[in-house]
Amino acid sequence: MTVNLVIGTQWGDEGKGKVVDYYSKDANYVVRYQGGNNAGHTIKVGKEVYKLHIVPSGVIQGKIGVIGNGVVIDPEVLINEIENLKSRGIIPKIMISDRANIIMPYHKILDGAEEQNLGNKKIGTTKRGIGPCYSDKIARKGIRAIDLTNKKTLSKKLDEILPVKQKLFKVYKIENKLDKKEILDTYIGFGTSLKDFIVPTHIELNKAIGLGKNILFEGAQGTMLDVDFGTYPYTTSSHTIAGGSVIGTGIGPNHINDIIGIMKAYTTRVGEGPLPTELFDKNGKHLQQKGHEFGTTTSRPRRCGWLDLVVVRHSCLLSGITKIAITKLDVLDGLETVKICIKYKLNGKEIDYFPANIEDVKNCKPVFKDFNGWKKIERSSSKVSDLPKEARKYLEFIEKELKIPFALVSIGPGRKETIEV
Ligand code: GDP
Ligand code: IMO
Ligand code: MG
Repeated sequence: MTVNLVIGTQWGDEGKGKVVDYYSKDANYVVRYQGGNNAGHTIKVGKEVYKLHIVPSGVIQGKIGVIGNGVVIDPEVLINEIENLKSRGIIPKIMISDRANIIMPYHKILDGAEEQNLGNKKIGTTKRGIGPCYSDKIARKGIRAIDLTNKKTLSKKLDEILPVKQKLFKVYKIENKLDKKEILDTYIGFGTSLKDFIVPTHIELNKAIGLGKNILFEGAQGTMLDVDFGTYPYTTSSHTIAGGSVIGTGIGPNHINDIIGIMKAYTTRVGEGPLPTELFDKNGKHLQQKGHEFGTTTSRPRRCGWLDLVVVRHSCLLSGITKIAITKLDVLDGLETVKICIKYKLNGKEIDYFPANIEDVKNCKPVFKDFNGWKKIERSSSKVSDLPKEARKYLEFIEKELKIPFALVSIGPGRKETIEV
């Protein structure tokens, strides 16, 4: 029995979909535990490309995909994603926690309105209703998956919630009147479609552990988007660090074996907020274009910068990362010099930790170490020793700095373009 965890160590989009798909071969269950369809996880198998937002990536390998209690679910998106996979010949096996919170129409509308209200201080959210849904959950005003299976309960809850939202809509000058009957009928309809999947997943998963099954947790977003430890307030609304996995599934922390931190060989970010190593020159353009750095969910161009080890160290510390998977090393092909940020300079002083104050983060100047670049990584490389010596030096430096071994080096988007270390 193993319970392993895959998490993003940067600002998301590190290649979690690819790595989760790769490790799914050994798993029985693949479990999402936080976030919602703000995530966009890409899996490339041969010529087929799958972009999953809410269905766990392990379903592509035929594994059971579990959506844990810590996830916020837009049922319409989930149903469409399941149907889309079916039309491509994949019948996903899904379990949904009865306790997972549901993204309602007013959450999506308010996400847009709050962003608009913030003007140039906006967070740059995905406008999927994630923040407003988590806010309601914590305020104990949420609708949960189980509520979609009982018309009386849902009706009562809507009677309590909708008048408050209608007041809020007036403040934001939103035209929508929030028609109760329409919402009730639509969401009971979603419940009818999903009811066979809605179960106490915490019981199922603990049973599976007892039976010696293998479980793989699939993180969404990344450490720097964590609501406590990220670049607050430019974060998402969930706990993206390893601790989020136990809260978001109901599995005891004692069961977790490996915590695999995924690290892109450089840094990207979508949306607003500071990015200390951001590049605005030809190197930034190289990373953006060669890395096809466009958001999987919103198609926005991702901002690009050099690898920031202050960020990755922060992640390793917060999540107890035991192994590193580095992705997109191939994107650095062809650069003359490659840089790694090893610390920051803040107000004339060198620091090696990530500050809490967002104004301090904005003032952090990266201190870089330079490395010679390399021409090209052969996509057929199957061992680290097949890589150009400059690329090996880059990896050796990272491993030595983090004091955590590599488990995997990814040199292309495809399942086969993966080196196990
Ligand atoms: P996630 O959100 O962490 O799952 O990452 P995304 O799927 O949003 O973005 C990662 C992108 O990089 C996807 O388009 C992947 O197909 C691609 N990708 C993953 N690993 C590699 C790699 O090693 N090299 C290259 N060139 N692309 C990769
Ligand atoms: P994956 O799982 C990258 C970012 C948004 C925005 C901030 C808050 O694919 O790595 P939200 O809609 O969550 O309230 O937006 O978080 N964001 C992501 N950026 N990858 C993601 O997921 C993200 N999910 C949210 O761009 O800056
Ligand atoms: Mg993504």
